[in-house]
Amino acid sequence: MNVGGEHYRTIWLKPGDDRVVQIIDQRPLPHAFVIEDLASSDAMARAIKEMHLRGAGLIGAAAGWGMYLAALEAPQASMEAFLGYLQAAGEKLKKTRPTAVNLEWAVDRQLREITGRARTPAEGVRVAHDTAQAIADEDAEFCRRIGEHGVKIIEEIYEKKGDTVHILTHCNAGWLAFVDYGTATAPMYEAQKRGIPIHVWVDETRPRNQGARLTAWELVQQGVPHTVVADNVGGHLMQHGLVDLVITGADRVTRCGDVANKIGTYLKALAAADNGVPFYVALPSSTLDWSICDGVAEIPIEQRGEEEVKYIQGLSDGEVKRVLLTPPESPAANYGFDVTPARLVKGLITERGIAAASEAGLLELYPERR
Ligand code: MRU
Repeated sequence: MNVGGEHYRTIWLKPGDDRVVQIIDQRPLPHAFVIEDLASSDAMARAIKEMHLRGAGLIGAAAGWGMYLAALEAPQASMEAFLGYLQAAGEKLKKTRPTAVNLEWAVDRQLREITGRARTPAEGVRVAHDTAQAIADEDAEFCRRIGEHGVKIIEEIYEKKGDTVHILTHCNAGWLAFVDYGTATAPMYEAQKRGIPIHVWVDETRPRNQGARLTAWELVQQGVPHTVVADNVGGHLMQHGLVDLVITGADRVTRCGDVANKIGTYLKALAAADNGVPFYVALPSSTLDWSICDGVAEIPIEQRGEEEVKYIQGLSDGEVKRVLLTPPESPAANYGFDVTPARLVKGLITERGIAAASEAGLLELYPERR
């Protein structure tokens, strides 16, 4: 997508040096645009854990490239030693963040492809490279298709209303959270392309403020009208008819349609249900976890350090600074995600179309999973 008029993806192989992966470092955004070089699988694991990059699809693509970096550094003397190193690197990558299923999906896909297609370590490196590129390209293409399917919902509201469509979103399920386009934002970008007037309510998304820092920055870059609101505002806006539609992303969706997404999503879904506002979730199939049904009971919820709650980061006198919000001695809890039960979700916007949030609905779009 667009950064200062130039097209960027969020992750790519460094031009002229195919032993280095480059990413947009999301930590200094929106105040500075920094590209970071990652030259080892450990560096990639750290970048995922410490959230230099983040977002379900991008974490998956990063795990794919992390396995390629692991293949480059693995012992090349025997296939056994090569595969042993990759298994260990895969375990390390999987442990970095527990909720987004795309991470383990990408590591397992790499291991399957490499063990199935490579007879020598050199072939293994080639397969790991091609698989990482395929995961990234697929992510971008699936997000593009999500835009094409999701825009129909916006179009329909616009046809009925004949006026600007107001869409509320939570966290950042934009192109920064994927390789390109994003999921929740893809239908918005498509609507903009088709000349449908939209306006986006952007939840700030405490504690890390992915909405206020990242979604807002993206929408500025793309020229989409938007307003940042504090996390608690959504219910009020819905009661006053100021939200036509909610679209969020997802970090893991069970085969029964329960949705894990950034903490606070569940509260928005409750408010949407109480006010008759359609609540949609956009996701690529790499975010589906077919092995579980009950999201509340079975999805692991990441808990991060308390400093993310106690401190806030922003620009002051031209410098990015962190300031303490709470009494220093107050303990804080930092749950990263919550689960929205399928009954509160009007539909799941996927690369294959819009499914009802249920096992039957998902199986209709993915019959090979029957
Ligand atoms: O903790 P993050 O920033 O990696 O959170 C994940 C997310 O990006 C959101 O929950 C998002 O809405 C899911 S779609 C990528």
